[in-house]
Formats: sequence, structure tokens, C-alpha cells
Amino acid sequence: MSLPQDEYSRRRRQLMRLMGRDAIAVLPAAPTRVRNNDVEYNYRQDSDFHYLTGFDEPESVAVLAPGREGGEYILFVRERNPEREIWDGKRAGPDGAVKEHGADEAYPIGKLDEILPGLLASRERVYHTMGVYHDFDQRVVGWVNTLRSQARAGRHPPQEFAALDHVLHDMRLFKSSREIALMRRSAVIAARAHVRAMQFCRPGRTEYEVMAELLHEFHRHHADISYHPIVGGGANSCVLHYRDNNAALKDGDLLLIDAGCEFQFYASDITRTFPVNGRFSPEQRAVYEVVLAAQRAAFAEIYPGNHWNAPHDAAVRSITQGLVKIGLLKGRVPQLIKEGAYRQYFMHRTGHWLGMDVHDVGDYKVGDEWRVFEPGMALTVEPGVYIAAGSKAPKRFWNTGIRIEDDVIVTAKGHEVLTSDVPREADEIERLMAGA
Ligand code: GLY
Ligand code: MN
Ligand code: MN
Repeated sequence: MSLPQDEYSRRRRQLMRLMGRDAIAVLPAAPTRVRNNDVEYNYRQDSDFHYLTGFDEPESVAVLAPGREGGEYILFVRERNPEREIWDGKRAGPDGAVKEHGADEAYPIGKLDEILPGLLASRERVYHTMGVYHDFDQRVVGWVNTLRSQARAGRHPPQEFAALDHVLHDMRLFKSSREIALMRRSAVIAARAHVRAMQFCRPGRTEYEVMAELLHEFHRHHADISYHPIVGGGANSCVLHYRDNNAALKDGDLLLIDAGCEFQFYASDITRTFPVNGRFSPEQRAVYEVVLAAQRAAFAEIYPGNHWNAPHDAAVRSITQGLVKIGLLKGRVPQLIKEGAYRQYFMHRTGHWLGMDVHDVGDYKVGDEWRVFEPGMALTVEPGVYIAAGSKAPKRFWNTGIRIEDDVIVTAKGHEVLTSDVPREADEIERLMAGA
């Protein structure tokens, strides 16, 4: 179900159009990273690099030179190496980069210093993302300096560096229909994992056993995690970035699971909160309904023409009203909102862009104004209320951390929720956990 070559070539053409014919773009693959001693983390290509190339080997560099005779798309890649390939598997090599991966020209990565200055010469602007891969930044500056030092020999160095990420990330913000299809799949797999976790959970089981259920479901659908899952029971449900996932699950506690997968480079990001024993207590249910109402209020604000912050404003309003209703805040709603009284219980924002990165790229503001929703944008909607032990709330509410998070695409008419395959209503969750 991966993307066809023409999706990548369309992206390259679009970027080159935006850059102009006097510019050139240079971008490196992600480096491999050591986990410990001689063991590496599983390799994950840089999102921008993959977005433009679909080429997933490390030690590669992509160059886009609009209008260049002999080819606009040049890849530098590892050479074939039969000995290394016995250990690590096949490499495309320069031939494969052209024949199988759509490059117009390809060279061994070892030739980069020799060839790149020539490609930069006579271009006015170099599109490059600064500050992500520091060693590569130095090399790009070095190539330009090489050209400057040869100016008297008639070589013309580029005069300007331009932010590649700025242009590219705006492209990535708008998902094509093929990207949306992958995001739907990623969402469905993650939803199944959450259903599985609800069915598995019971008092005496542990957070890590529940995590194992999630991972099993991801991997059996050829997906991986899109971030380390949060599986937090009881007091741990109130730790926003809880990662230990090592505690036993107790009767009467809630379990908050924030887990999503990455399928073919596209992330999902779901949170569900449910009772370990399958039945919400009255206090848990009361807070749950406050969060659910806030999520509904936020969903209603997602349609083309509305602005990025409208769902958050709606969630803040709804949570403040809800907390007043159940007695956790006292006062007039408009005043409480103004004072930010909700922040003691709801201390994060209501969502973020979603795509190849779980916290996806794209500006949230244009100048001083919030960005306006347009079809093809993808985001999460994730209000929460966290009542930690020691908070001002009555003790019977303590250790109640609830977040409900779903993934949404902006459509021409409004929005599509991608993650509805996992129950969200309290009654539905109880029914599922009862085996009904
Ligand atoms: N799992 C990260 C987030 O919800 O933003
Ligand atoms: Mn999220
Ligand atoms: Mn999340």
C-alpha cells in the first residue's frame, strides 16, 4: 500500500516550481544512530527526505536542480558492496537509484565533495534546512566557500541560502488523497490496538503487558510505533509524558493509553482513558463526560475557513463550564476563562498537525494570525483533565487523568474523524470491556 513513484515525482516538481529555476535544493538522509555500544536504533529515514525521494537508505543526499540539462533530480547513494550486503541486505547503488527509484542521475556518496560544488555553481539560491544535521550544514557552507574561493577563475557562487523547510513543510501540511488513504490505514490499525488493550485490561495486569498488546497489533499490521506509548494507570494517568509503563493496574483506577502507530511513514495518535475494572466510578464518569463534551465542542470548530485556535478555544470554554458544573471550579465561566483557572486541570493544547511526524510540520500562524483550516490538513483533537493527588479537588477525584484524542482530516464540507473504530463514549467502552 506504499505510495507509487509518481507521487514522489509530483512533489519534486511542485517544490522545484516553488523554488524557481535559479535555485537548487540539497538535503541529506537521516544518519544512523547508535543505541548502545555497536547496536544501532532501527533506521528511520528523515521525513523530508522520504517525502521527496521515497528512498530509504542512509548515507544518501538528494539534489534538485530545476531545469538542469542531464537531469533535475540527482541522488548520491552508497555504492553496491557484496561483502557488506551479506550482513546488512541489498543496497540500490547508483544504478538502482536511477532504475528503481526515479533519479535522473546518481553517483556514489563518496563523490559528493567532488561533484556538488559544480552543481551549485551558477545557481543563485541554495535551499537547505539549517540546524537539523550540523555536520551536513558545515559541508554545505564548505561547498559554497569553495566556489567563492574560485570566483576569480570564473565560478559563480550562490548568493543566498533559503530555508527549504519553510517551503517543504507547507507542502507537507496538505495531504493528497493517497496520503489520506495511508493515514486512514494508520488510524484503523491504532484503533484496533486500543480496542485490543481495552479487551485485555483487568486488575492485576500490568502497564507493560497492555503495551505488549498494542505493539502486537501494530506489528501484525506491518506498522511500528509513531512514538513511545503512554500506558499510565491510576496516579500515572496524570503524568502527561509518562513513559515507564511498569506498574500493576489496580481495581478502581483509570488507565490512560496514548499510543499511535506509523504505517508507511504516516502517523496516527490516539488516546483513550478507561476504567481498569471495566466500570467508571461516578467521579470518573463525571470527569470523563467533561472531557468528551470538550472534544465534541472542538470537533464542531473544524471546517474550512475556521482558524487553528478555534477548537482549542471551544475546548477551554467547554472544560471550564464542565468543571464548574461538577464543582471543581467555582465562579463565573467568562471570568474563569480569562483567569485561566482551567489550566490547573487542563495544561496542554487541544491538538497539533499530524502526518509523517506525529507532531507534524506546518506553521500554526501566518504572521500574527492563526492559520485557517483548508481541506487536506490533518490534526489531532485531544482535550484532557488531570486531577493529580494533592490538587485542590476533593480527594475522591484524585488520580483521575483523562484525555480523549482522535485524528481528523479537514474536508471540503467540514472534517472526517479517522479514529472512530475505537469507542469513545463511556457506555460503549463499558460494553466493549464487558465483552458485549
Ligand atoms: N502522543 C503525543 C501527543 O499526543 O501529542
Ligand atoms: Mn497528540
Ligand atoms: Mn497522543
